[in-house]
Order: sequence, then structure tokens, then C-alpha cells
Amino acid sequence: MEFVVKSSAVEKQKTACLVVGVYKKTLPASAAAIDSLTEGQLSTVLRQGDLEFKPGHSLMLHSGNPWERLLLLAMGDNDTPMSEAEFKKLANDLAGKLKSVNAREATIAVEDITVADRSPEWITRHLVEAVEYAFYQFSQFKNDAAEGAKGIKKITLLADRKNADAVKAGMTLGQAIGIGRNIARTLGNLPGNICHPTYLAEEAKSLARQHTKLATKVLNEKQMAELGMSSLLSVSAGSGQEARLICMEFKNGKRGAKPLVLLGKGITFDTGGISIKPSANMDEMKFDMCGAASVFGVMNAIIQLDLPVNVIGMVAAAENMPSGRASRPGDIVTSMSGKTIEILNTDAEGRLVLCDALTYAERYKPEAVIDIATLTGACVVALGHHTTGLLSNNDDLATELLNAANDAMDRAWQLPMGDEYTRQLDSNFADMANIGGPTAGTITAACFLAKFAEAYPWAHLDIAGTAWVSGKEKGATGRPVPMLVQFLLNRNK
Ligand code: BES
Ligand code: MN
Ligand code: ZN
Repeated sequence: MEFVVKSSAVEKQKTACLVVGVYKKTLPASAAAIDSLTEGQLSTVLRQGDLEFKPGHSLMLHSGNPWERLLLLAMGDNDTPMSEAEFKKLANDLAGKLKSVNAREATIAVEDITVADRSPEWITRHLVEAVEYAFYQFSQFKNDAAEGAKGIKKITLLADRKNADAVKAGMTLGQAIGIGRNIARTLGNLPGNICHPTYLAEEAKSLARQHTKLATKVLNEKQMAELGMSSLLSVSAGSGQEARLICMEFKNGKRGAKPLVLLGKGITFDTGGISIKPSANMDEMKFDMCGAASVFGVMNAIIQLDLPVNVIGMVAAAENMPSGRASRPGDIVTSMSGKTIEILNTDAEGRLVLCDALTYAERYKPEAVIDIATLTGACVVALGHHTTGLLSNNDDLATELLNAANDAMDRAWQLPMGDEYTRQLDSNFADMANIGGPTAGTITAACFLAKFAEAYPWAHLDIAGTAWVSGKEKGATGRPVPMLVQFLLNRNK
């Protein structure tokens, strides 16, 4: 989508679709200007009562002059700023409505949309993000897709001259986050036969070829074996696809400043291995690389924004398959750290690839490491599909992430850790087992990872419930790209 910011009178807009906010009891400036130009027609329409004034509702009027359509956005009863939850509904509803408009462009009077304690920049950014999200299509495998033929291609954001810079800043940010998020969605949506570890490695290399500030290094299985990454390699052992450890190095901050490492779980397909999963909905395990996809999305966004930060985007990519060469339950492997692991369940493979990558991350002397993983079904039970699980060995880092999640409207919730939980991983035969029993599965998975993340502040985002949606709208969500970009922005303030 193309966005432009313009400062001129709302009632003079020659546009196919003019979007203005309205309250039940009063008309904000833009709506009032239109009402007086139309000699009260707008008030008359509102009095007819077809528009419910709860945010998320809207009413399209299919005539006007000089505009062709007028879309009235409900913002509540009284002339008071909306809550963030109300605004989120409004933004998503608006984006959905715009999708059904058969015209090339639209104009939104952003000025009158207000949210308690949030700036015009923040509001614009989220409107733009909502539009980028709604207009996304994944149709590359559909022969009859009429991609891009119809619909809105350009949106003009109307703002007062005094707010134009803030609205422009919000637009730039919203586009970078929205596009980064859509890149993550596309990688997630790609099927396992196409998006395998080598495919992800090629994507990372091609990103580095396009941007001089990015350098990509890729370790193959032979190189990982030399480093002693037997835990990671035990996961790809049963697959015809070789594993890859991908490092995208973005050095755009102070020279010598410690980097932040983002590490994504990149299981390009998770059958469970010998501890095989039931077949129902197993197709959704192509999404088991959505953590990796979010790292790609964030790298794209920070390149776009030219953020002055040092960030290493790491991806531990492997495919988890059963075969005569696959790991068996009971196998014991020695991780790169030297710690031994009894693999009691080959379906708890995410932690097995991540632990070696966490050890490898020490080489970057990171300021902090954040891993992003579709790690446990237990997280879906605990938090559902709305909230990402957050676990950390450092409360300051956890708080920073929770604040970022809040600003980005990309929710997260912290879960506890501790020795009592870590003891659930005790093994009779090795330093630890790779599963912690039937209770607190999200926490014991994090406790496993924490054993490999002792050298730096570390946080873990379990996105098993938030990375994709099932059902009719099945597809990757691109979460938590907004949270992570926001985290980097907040750190950089
Ligand atoms: N990728 C799955 C987790 C998952 C399951 C994410 C369902 C989203 C939906 C992970 O590799 C896995 O299989 N975890 C096991 C761990 C268990 C064996 C301890 C799980 O959650 O069942
Ligand atoms: Mn698994
Ligand atoms: Zn998995």
C-alpha cells in the first residue's frame, strides 16, 4: 500500500472514499466541516440511527461531493479519547472495510481519531499497520488469483500542519512494521516442501546481498558437527533436509557496542519425529518456523528504518522427521555446551535446536538474547491464541519486553521460572531430560533453555498460540514482529 500525508481541508478532498470519525453526541472537526458543507445532511443521517456508535462499527454513505463515498467511523458516545482496545477494533474494522471498496484510493482524516495517552504518531502507525495486515494476500500458489487487479492502492492521511511530521513518522513506522510482519507471514505460510532450512538460509543470504549493512553467515551440518552441536543435529538426523544455523549480522549501531541477539526456532516441519504427532492438523506444523520468520521480519523492518542498532538475527533451522536415521526416545546427546541431554521425547525438538544456538550466541558477547519459538502446546492451553508467553532470567529485560508489547498492542504475559520447575527435568542417565513431565510444560521448556543461557540476560517468547490462526482464516500472523521492533525502538530512545 502506498501512503501519503497531506495537510488540507477535509471538505475539499476529491477522493473515492473519505473516512471520518464521529461521536454520538458531538461531531469532531472533520465531520463538522462536512456537516456544514452538506447543510446538515451528515447529522440527519446519524440521527436515523443506522450507525451504532461503539468503536468497530462504521457506516458507508455512497454519495457526496467532491468525495464519492463517505465512511463514518464510530468512536463512541462522547467526545472523549478511545481506549486502546476500542481503537484496535476501530483500526481493524476500518482496514477490513477499505478492502471491500472498489476504488483505487481513499483518504482518512486521522486528526480526529484520538486515543487516551497516545500520540498522533502512535495512532497513525497502528492504522497503517492494520491496513498492511488486512490487505495482505498469500496467493502465490493459486492460479485464479486476481492479485492486485482491484481495490485500494493508495491511502492519503489528512493531518493538521502542526501534526504532519508526527503523522509522517507514524506512517513510516507503521509501514516498516507492517511490511516486516507480512514478510514473516509469507515465510510462515510457505509449505514445508518449499520452505526448508536451505530455503531460509538462501533468504538470509539474499537479504544480505540487497543491504550492505547486513552480513549473513550460514553454518552447514559439517560445520555444526565440528562445533559439537549434537543436540541440534539430533533433530535433523531423520530428515533428508540438512539443518542450517543462520546468522544475519546487522551492524548499524555504535562500533563495538554489544549486539542484541534475536534467535528464532526454525523447525520447517515438525512431525514429532519417532514420537510422532497425531495426523489431525499436522499440516499446521509447517508453522513451526514462525519464530524464525519473525526474526526475518524484524531484520527487514530495522533495515527499512535504518535503526542505529547492532542486532544479530539467528535462526536454528531443521526439519523434524521420523526415519531409520532419526533420534530414538532414550538417546543421549552431548550439546555444544558439554551438557548431556536424554531425549525422552523427540517431539520436544525446539529446545534441542535452540540450546546449541544459545551456546553459539555467546560468541557475539551479546547484551541480551531473546529467543522466539513455537515451543509448547502447553502455552496455547495457558494463554490461548491472544497472548505470547514470556519467560526470562532477567526481570529488567522482561519488563522492557512487556512495555514494548503494550506499546505495540502485541500482547505478552510473563510466566514464572525457578528451581522447583527445573528439577522436573532431572534425568536418571544424563545431565537433564528434554521434557519435564505433564505439568507446567511451557515453564519447564524455558527452564531447559535457561541452562544454556546463563552467560547473558535472556528472554524467551513462546508464540505457540499467537504465531498463526487455524480454521477458515488459517495463516501466519507475523507476531511478535511488532513487539520486537518496538522493543528495539524503545531501547534506542
Ligand atoms: N512445535 C511444537 C509445539 C506446538 C504444538 C506449537 C502445537 C503449537 C501447537 C513442539 O515442538 C512440541 O511438539 N512440543 C511438545 C513438547 C512435549 C513433547 C513436551 C508439546 O507441546 O506437546
Ligand atoms: Mn515438536
Ligand atoms: Zn516443534
